[in-house]
Amino acid sequence: MPAQISPSILTADFARLADEVAKVARVADWLHVDVMDNHFVPNLTLGLPVVESLLKATTLPVDCHLMIEDPDRWAPAYAEAGAGSVTIHAEAAKAPVRTLRRIREAGARAGFALNPGTAVQDYEGLLGEIDMLLVMTVEPGFGGQSFLDIMLPKIRKARELIRKHGGEIWLQVDGGVSAATIERCAEAGADVFVAGNAVYGADDPAEAVRSLRAQADR
Ligand code: DX5
Ligand code: ZN
Repeated sequence: MPAQISPSILTADFARLADEVAKVARVADWLHVDVMDNHFVPNLTLGLPVVESLLKATTLPVDCHLMIEDPDRWAPAYAEAGAGSVTIHAEAAKAPVRTLRRIREAGARAGFALNPGTAVQDYEGLLGEIDMLLVMTVEPGFGGQSFLDIMLPKIRKARELIRKHGGEIWLQVDGGVSAATIERCAEAGADVFVAGNAVYGADDPAEAVRSLRAQADR
């Protein structure tokens, strides 16, 4: 599969979200939206009402990354609102199978995220329930952090387990993905790349998306 780029609006100007999204609308594959509740992570961003408005403001499929304490309660609502993909965290979900199924039933891709300290092997049994596995390459909560190189073996392991499982599961990386790190992620087996600072910190966000994709496909 060609590399897909999912720009994260976390570092965009929240007072001008529609304009910020428009900057990448013609080149991005997805729009990554980080939902944080100040409990699962020590930061607070936005929730369902803002996602509903974003869905009206763009034709890009929206990739919702739920960094919240109670994803079992909230994830289906994001899928029902029209998100293209909804990702819940392994560390937060109490009923992951039921929640992943509800996401799929509502017509969205079901994503499952692992914090840096969470082993991918422990979740091999869930691969049949998911459309995308997210290997966090920073501790979740903030944009602009440094990529954790020690996650590269985990990306490789995740790719190996996905291959063994045999399904069409995308492997996403999120955190510190940039021109300096994306090739290593792609080489390790990632195929969906979230980039916040590398896109919205660039003078030309659209050009940054194109150039990241070209690097990942190299
Ligand atoms: C961090 C978020 C990321 C964040 C990535 O918890 O999940 O999506 O926006 O930002 P960068 O690419 O700047 O590390
Ligand atoms: Zn994210």
